[in-house]
Amino acid sequence: MSAIESVLKENRVFEPSETFTAHANVSGMDAYNALCEKANADYEGFWAELARDNITWKQPFTKILDESNAPFFKWFEDGKLNISYNCIDRHLADKADKVAIIYDKDDGSSENITYRQLYERVCQLANGLKSLGVKKGDRVVIYMPMVADAVVAMQACARLGAIHSVVFGGFSAGAVKDRVKDAAAKIIITANESVRGGKRVPLKATVDDALAGGDCTSVEKVVVLQRTDADVAWSDDRDIWWHDLVQHQASDCEPEWVGAEDPLFILYTSGSTGKPKGVQHSTGGFLLGAIVSMKWVFDYKPNDVFWCTADVGWITGHTYIAYGPLALGATQVVFEGVPTYPDAGRFWHDIEKFKVTIFYTAPTAIRSLIKLGADLPKKYDLSSLRLLGTVGEPINPEAWMWYYQIVGNSRCPIVDTWWQTETGSNMIAPLPGAVAIKPGSCTLPLPGIIADIVDESGAPVEKGNGGFLVIKRPFPSLLRTVWGDNERFKSTYFPEDFGGKYYVAGDSAHRDENGYIWIMGRVDDVLNVSGHRLGTMEIESALVANPLVAEAAVVGKPHDVKGEAVVAFVVLKGERPHGDEAKRMAAELKNWVAHEIGKIAQPDDIRFGENLPKTRSGKIMRRLLRSLAKGEEITSDISTLENPQVMEQLKHSV
Ligand code: PRX
Repeated sequence: MSAIESVLKENRVFEPSETFTAHANVSGMDAYNALCEKANADYEGFWAELARDNITWKQPFTKILDESNAPFFKWFEDGKLNISYNCIDRHLADKADKVAIIYDKDDGSSENITYRQLYERVCQLANGLKSLGVKKGDRVVIYMPMVADAVVAMQACARLGAIHSVVFGGFSAGAVKDRVKDAAAKIIITANESVRGGKRVPLKATVDDALAGGDCTSVEKVVVLQRTDADVAWSDDRDIWWHDLVQHQASDCEPEWVGAEDPLFILYTSGSTGKPKGVQHSTGGFLLGAIVSMKWVFDYKPNDVFWCTADVGWITGHTYIAYGPLALGATQVVFEGVPTYPDAGRFWHDIEKFKVTIFYTAPTAIRSLIKLGADLPKKYDLSSLRLLGTVGEPINPEAWMWYYQIVGNSRCPIVDTWWQTETGSNMIAPLPGAVAIKPGSCTLPLPGIIADIVDESGAPVEKGNGGFLVIKRPFPSLLRTVWGDNERFKSTYFPEDFGGKYYVAGDSAHRDENGYIWIMGRVDDVLNVSGHRLGTMEIESALVANPLVAEAAVVGKPHDVKGEAVVAFVVLKGERPHGDEAKRMAAELKNWVAHEIGKIAQPDDIRFGENLPKTRSGKIMRRLLRSLAKGEEITSDISTLENPQVMEQLKHSV
C-alpha cells in the first residue's frame, strides 16, 4: 500500500507546450478525443481505416475482426502482406539512400546502413536461410548480440514467413534449450561472441551447451555471425558461418506473402506459474500496433532520429527497433553497448553525436545513471532531443523529474508507456501533443484501446480505488495464443473469473480524479527486476534443481536501482549452514541460478532456514516472506504456522 499512497501524493501536471502541440501528429485534446470517439462509434471501421492507410497489402482484407471463436480473435484475416516488405522495400522508391540504422558499436565506432543496404543484407540472408531449407512457418531461434545484424536476422525471417523466436543474449544454455525445444526450432542464428561494455560473452559456446545433450532434435543448422576474432568449437555438418552463407546469395529476394493472422514471432516471457510462455504474435495486427503507436505516442516525423535502448531479446526491441521505426522509414540508432561504458555519460554522448530527437529507455537505466553521474548530461549538447520515453516499470517521480529537467531541459514531454510482451505495442501512454503529463502516471489509453480497472467480479472500481487492469475489447496487436498451448492462453489472459471476455493484464492500477491511470504493480508472482519480468516459480525451480537444495521460495524486495531485487529463502537437504559455510553456499547458489537461467535472475539475498513458514496444511506463507525480505516487523498472528521458530532464522541475510 505504501507505494500506492506515495504516488497518490504526486500532483504536478505538465501541459504540452504550444509549439509541440502545433506540430504534433495528434494536436491537442480535441484531436485525441475525436480519435477516441471515432473508435467508440465504429470500432472495427476505425481499425480497418488505420490498417488500410498504414500498411501496404499485397491483397487487401475484406474481413476486419472475427470474434466468433473468442478469445482467439482474428484481424484482417484474408489480407496478405509481408512485414519485411513494409519495413524496407516500400521505402526504396524515395528513401533508398536514407540511413535506416546507425549501428552504434560497443567500442564507440559506428556504421550507417541505408535502406538500400539493409534491403540487400536482409535479402541475402533470407536467400541463405532459404538454401538451408527455411520456409514459411518454420521456427528460427535468434540468440544474438545487439548488432545491426540481429535486426537483419529478424527481418530475413519475416521476409520468408518463418517465425522467429529471439532469445535474449544474457540467457543461459538451459534457457536457450527450453526455448529451442518448445518452439521446435529448425535453425539457430547466433554469433561467436557478443561484446558489451568491453567484455566478451561466448554465445556460440552457450548454444553448443544447449544442444549438447541431444534433446534439441529439431535443430538442423546453426548460423554463426563472426562478431569478434575469437575461435569457437565447430561442428562441420551443423555449423555455418553467416558470411559463408550469404557470400554468393542474390541481393534480391521476393517476399513470401503471408496471411495477416500468420504468426510473425514467438517471444518467451515469464508468468506466475511453470515454464516461460511462448507469446505468439500475428503479422498484420502486430505491424499496425507498431506503426500507429510510433505515430501517436512517439509523434514520429520523417526527420527524426529515433533511439530505443532496449535489447531485441525483449518485446520493446521487437516493436520499437526491429519493426516500428523501419515500417515508417525512420533513421534509428541500434546500440550494442551498455549505458555505463566507457562511462555513465554514454547515452548523453551518443545523443549529441547522432543528434537523437526521440529517446526511449527504462526507469532502471535512468536511476542507475542518476547515481553514477547526475550532472553528466550537462556536459553534452542535448538540444536535438524533442521527446523522451520510458517503459518497463513505474517510474518514480524523482527519477522522472531528473529525466525531465536534466536530460530534457524541461522542454521535452515524457511518454511513460505502459504495455507488455503480450500487447505487442503501447496501450496506455500520453499522446505528447495532447495529453498533459504527470510524473509517474502512464496517463490515458491510446485511441481504440478500451482499458478499464475492475474488481474480482469484473465490475469497474470507483476512481481512486485499486483494481485489476483489463482491456475490454480485442485490439489488433494483442497476442494470438501461447505457442502450442491454447488452454494456457485462455486461462491466463481471459480467465473465467472475469467472464472470459476481458484481456487481464496481471497488473493492478488505479485512476485519479482526471481519469489518469497509475500502475501499481503485478498482481501475480512475477517480479520486475530492472524492467525484466521474472517468474518467482522459474527461479524456485532453478534453485531446487540444485542437488543440495530441498526447498526454495523466492520473493521480491524494493531496490533503489533495479526496482525490485530477488530474495531467495532456501532449505538445504543437509544441515542449515552457518557463517562462512553459509556464505559459500549462497555464492554457489547465486552462480547456479545465473547458470540455469541467466544473471538477471540471480538472487541478491539468500537466506537459509531449517524450513519455510507454512500453514498447517503445508502452504508456504509468501506474505510473511515478503515482509521478512523487506525487513518489516512481523506483527500479524503467526500462531497458525506449523513452524513459527523458522521465522527468526529467515530474518537474516547471509
Ligand atoms: O507490470 C507491467 C510492467 O511491465 C510488465 C510487462 O513486462 P514485459 O512483458 O516484459 O514488457 C515490458 C516492456 C513493454 C507490465 O505488466 N510495465 C511495463 N511498462 C510499464 C510497466 N509498469 C508501469 N509503468 C509502465 N510504463
